[in-house]
Amino acid sequence: MPLTLATLPFEKEEDVVDSSRKILGIRLEKHTPLALERLSYRPRCPPVLRGAFTVHRASAPLKAIDDDEQISAMFPHVHHKPMVEIGFHDGEGPVTIGKPLRVGILFSGGPASGGHNVVAGLYDFLATRNVSSALFGFLGGPSGLIDGKYKDITEENLFRFRNQGGFHLLGSGRTKIETPEQLAAAFSTCERLNLDGLVIVGGDDSNTNACVLAEYIAKKGGKTCVIGVPKTIDGDLRNAYIEASFGFDTACKLYAELVSNLAFDAVSAQKVYHFCRLMGRSASHITLEVALQTHPNMAIISEEVAAHKQTLPMVVDMIADLVCERSALGKNHGIIILPEGLVEFMPDIKSLINELNEVLAQQASVNGTAADASSMGMAEEADEANALGDVDESARVIREIARKLSKESADLLGALPPAFAVQLCMDRDPHGNVQVSKIESERLLAEMVEKELEKRKQEGTYRGKFSAVTHFLGYEGRCGLPSNFDCNYCYVLGIVAGGLIENGHTGYLARAIGLTQAPELWRVGGVPLTAMMRMERRKGHDTPVISKSVVDMAGPVFQTFKKDRQNWSLSDEFRIVGPMQFYGDGADALTFTMEISE
Ligand code: FBP
Repeated sequence: MPLTLATLPFEKEEDVVDSSRKILGIRLEKHTPLALERLSYRPRCPPVLRGAFTVHRASAPLKAIDDDEQISAMFPHVHHKPMVEIGFHDGEGPVTIGKPLRVGILFSGGPASGGHNVVAGLYDFLATRNVSSALFGFLGGPSGLIDGKYKDITEENLFRFRNQGGFHLLGSGRTKIETPEQLAAAFSTCERLNLDGLVIVGGDDSNTNACVLAEYIAKKGGKTCVIGVPKTIDGDLRNAYIEASFGFDTACKLYAELVSNLAFDAVSAQKVYHFCRLMGRSASHITLEVALQTHPNMAIISEEVAAHKQTLPMVVDMIADLVCERSALGKNHGIIILPEGLVEFMPDIKSLINELNEVLAQQASVNGTAADASSMGMAEEADEANALGDVDESARVIREIARKLSKESADLLGALPPAFAVQLCMDRDPHGNVQVSKIESERLLAEMVEKELEKRKQEGTYRGKFSAVTHFLGYEGRCGLPSNFDCNYCYVLGIVAGGLIENGHTGYLARAIGLTQAPELWRVGGVPLTAMMRMERRKGHDTPVISKSVVDMAGPVFQTFKKDRQNWSLSDEFRIVGPMQFYGDGADALTFTMEISE
């Protein structure tokens, strides 16, 4: 391995820019000043990670959070291990520094800002320990490991990704490593590359997979240690051991900037309601954070909807009530934000989805493709007909599906706007989840609120004007330039993952804690993946899973929101969030449109 950025005297631009306007081989013209400035950002980390360290035991062996016996039976080689912590070497015990290591890394699931810094942290760790170490990046996610597709990571191909968003250095994917064939193929790649370690950067499902693979390799007597890194913009990989998943910080800041812009558009033009759906399929952490940042007129929190058993018509009523109340004050504009997973938390839609899952799974198994939800014929037919604008045909297919449902669910499906009914019936992802990013719940609510307001107008209880503009703020938030927090956190997690592998730990999730303090004060180490597991019913089977954390309605974050939201609903006291364009040289840059048309 060559010199790393960590060892370069990278203080001023002239130190690294050569006469051809290249910065360590990167053409300057291709990068905005901000992207270049971020390239030279030096992630901060706890001093212990800069020198010789040891990994010591930090607790008694841990049990699973639930169903310990079952988890124990499924993971005999990696369960009941202690937490471990990285500390300064105290002069006793073995020093592992100097051992050349061969390590693989892959991204799994949706992108999240900071992922490239996990690779950078791991790379720098390996390179500073021994120049003969090697890092392999598996391409396209877990399938790269299964198919043995990878690239060697070098400073030359890594440098331009440091502190930058996206996962495009390697790509990502949602393939699961679960069947005997997939596990055997993944193991065989590890053996062929003689890997000491494998780092899986992913969310709850991917880390459950990481644990399954760690167990499989240990059982086979392989030497590859499997370490997970907590990633997901959704912020739901959080528990007693893990304070945050990376990507959440950046995504929330990006969404907040956009929501803040829309809020000021609403109050400036005074003619529309903006309905914004934000990513976060199983938990509303993003919506809650963005609400606290921006102070919208209404933020719907899925967990509260579920707790109050609010059905779709009840949520529609709640929004219509707000519109009427604001209208009485002369305000026919506003902004409403909602999480993308909302519909799954409404009891009526939830039972409909559950029934649809059964029907679609039966259909898939009739087609001989039980594990592959992508060939669910009827749903595809409806989707295709809908895309072609063939309303009659998609209605016919929906009616056919409805015949297999209970009366309540069939009635509900029939009463939904057809486009939405089709979206509910569409493919599940490989983990069996409804693909909520494709369900336009913001449009559904806007349309139904409009109808409800029409009704109220006829009844004489509402006299205002209502016009809605819908937005899905989803993919916009996953690949932005990472915030300083995500740059630091990811870099640290990369080093920690390397340290755990160097010390022979497998089946662990890398972690840093004390995250509200300066990075220099963070404590770092690992927690056994099985300690975060319990059994859940998935696709008709009892399956070990790492539980998702949802919004705690008794917790301080929700309570702060609850205290303030009434004021926000009528006042239009939106918060200016502070967009990134006021940061660094970008503040003075012209838009491309102006520059190009000059
Ligand atoms: P991960 O849990 O894999 O990090 O992905 C989260 C997420 O961004 C969700 O917010 C969203 O529902 C989903 O990915 C969308 O996935 P896809 O990229 O497959 O459309």
